Amino acid sequence: MRKTVLITGASSGIGYEFAKIFASNGDNVILVARNEEKLFEIQKKLQEKYRIFAYVYAKDLAKENAAKELFSEVTSDGHMVDYLINNAGFGDNHRYLHTDFETHEKMVKLNVLSLMELCHLFGRVMYNRGEGKILNVASIAAFTAGPYMSVYFASKAFVLSFSEALNEEFKSRNVSVTCLCPGPTYTNFGKTAEYDKSNAFRYLKPANAADVAVTGYKAMMKNKSIALHGAHIKALAFFSRFTPRTINTKTSAFLNKGNVNNAHKL
Ligand SMILES: NC(=O)c1ccc[n+]([C@@H]2O[C@H](COP(=O)([O-])OP(=O)(O)OC[C@H]3O[C@@H](n4cnc5c(N)ncnc54)[C@H](OP(=O)(O)O)[C@@H]3O)[C@@H](O)[C@H]2O)c1
Repeated sequence: MRKTVLITGASSGIGYEFAKIFASNGDNVILVARNEEKLFEIQKKLQEKYRIFAYVYAKDLAKENAAKELFSEVTSDGHMVDYLINNAGFGDNHRYLHTDFETHEKMVKLNVLSLMELCHLFGRVMYNRGEGKILNVASIAAFTAGPYMSVYFASKAFVLSFSEALNEEFKSRNVSVTCLCPGPTYTNFGKTAEYDKSNAFRYLKPANAADVAVTGYKAMMKNKSIALHGAHIKALAFFSRFTPRTINTKTSAFLNKGNVNNAHKL
């Protein structure tokens, strides 16, 4: 029996790789992002190559009520979502005060609020049905504070904590919640966040989006709570538990440097 996965941020990067994995396994995919044209291209490609059904829902999930609208459109179109992948997100590699507040707000709305709301809406259906899997994409950033990317790191810390809690709450109803925490990965993220010249991208050996998605997929299918890709990313997450928080903060300040405007004046 074919299953259906809903993937946010499916128009590029890790989300697109997730769409290919599910489609290649014969599952139907619901593709969500803002760029409708791109989503239609992907729909065509996946349907032709894998003989599955792909559905497009173009949405700006940072907008008020977008998650509710998405849920009600998907439900009234008769789709039953077996797997939910909350992957859409963006970052911003600047000093906190050098970025306008609207960008910070939009980041929290997308990275945190819309993910939370989609877990509430689709999670409730899965919980009542006694079946389902959710994967939330956080980041290795979730394990520490992140100077020069403060809101992004905090948003991903939220996603990790929230996902671990839900996984425990939903377990008894046969619903798993996995949190994928990638390190630097070659996608459009680096450019959008102006992070591609950072020390993190220089020194942490960026991964391919396809490999990261496979790691996430396998962890999700095994109902794992956390998925980390790459030995160095696993080591960073592990050792961050034993080093003082001030050292972790200074390390991420170093990793986030590279592209940051050094002028202290606003
Ligand atoms: N790449 C990395 O180094 C890295 C590391 C750790 C964690 N992550 C996380 O991985 C996730 C996927 O990012 P990626 O690396 O694959 O980057 P990406 O290539 O930039 O993909 C981001 C996806 O999110 C969608 N999106 C952005 N804003 C949106 C909005 N307001 N509403 C709906 N969709 C929106 C984008 O599509 P549209 O532009 O069409 O809307 C795109 O499909 C993010 O949560 C990111 O924080 C990435």
